Amino acid sequence: MGQSQWTLVETYLTDRLVPGDAVLEATLAANRAAGLPQIDVSAAQGKFLQILARILSAKRILEIGTLGGYSTIWMARALPPDGVMVSLEMEPRHAEVARANLARARLSDRVEVVIGAALDVLPKIEADGQGPFDLIFIDADKPNNPNYFEWALRLSRPGTLIIVDNVVRAGAVADANCTDPTVQGVQRCVEMMAREPRVSTTALQTVGAKGWDGFAVALVQP
Ligand code: SAH
Ligand code: DHB
Ligand code: MG
Repeated sequence: MGQSQWTLVETYLTDRLVPGDAVLEATLAANRAAGLPQIDVSAAQGKFLQILARILSAKRILEIGTLGGYSTIWMARALPPDGVMVSLEMEPRHAEVARANLARARLSDRVEVVIGAALDVLPKIEADGQGPFDLIFIDADKPNNPNYFEWALRLSRPGTLIIVDNVVRAGAVADANCTDPTVQGVQRCVEMMAREPRVSTTALQTVGAKGWDGFAVALVQP
């Protein structure tokens, strides 16, 4: 068992359950054409995020790490017409591609892509009273995951769902001696979530076309 089987099963499931969509396909094509790294969530994961947003009846969504807006489009499509999504992206080139993709998806009225280092932008979001958010998706530079989790708590209310992407890193998260700052950021974030009484947290490993990784999911307690 390994990567080739994971890819076959992902194709099997995605072909049946997550049918192709011209806008999402065009988004991935535009990202490739612009030379963006192919580290977007998978289609199956994007639909999972969308289903969570629908369960939550999310009206306000925050994303940290836009890239080309692929995960953004999946989640924003769950918003009602008066819903809003804010997505933070440090690289102007990524944000530009994302904005074009969101325009093609006819979501520009509901989604704002903010350019800047997330730790600079998050205080402004708080000061502007843009929170609390119903769903927060953390998917940017992993060494800052502990900081992003703290900010997510600040911008939450009871019932907010905080999702952290890429918490398994091909198993590296379980290596206590790992010196990779990316992995250490993930480990510190998991430990913070474990200690934090304001959330109830679990995590799920995933395998698929993009390898072995996982999501942590924290529900802010009543
Ligand atoms: N959520 C996207 C993938 C995001 S990839 C999807 O699934 O489709 C991570 C993104 O975070 C990259 O575009 C990277 O430029 C951005 N990023 C990295 N460091 C950042 C920071 N400090 N602040 C904001 N964005 C950052
Ligand atoms: C990487 C980052 C991601 O957000 C992701 O989903 C997969 C990989 C990376 O930096 O390698
Ligand atoms: Mg990710």
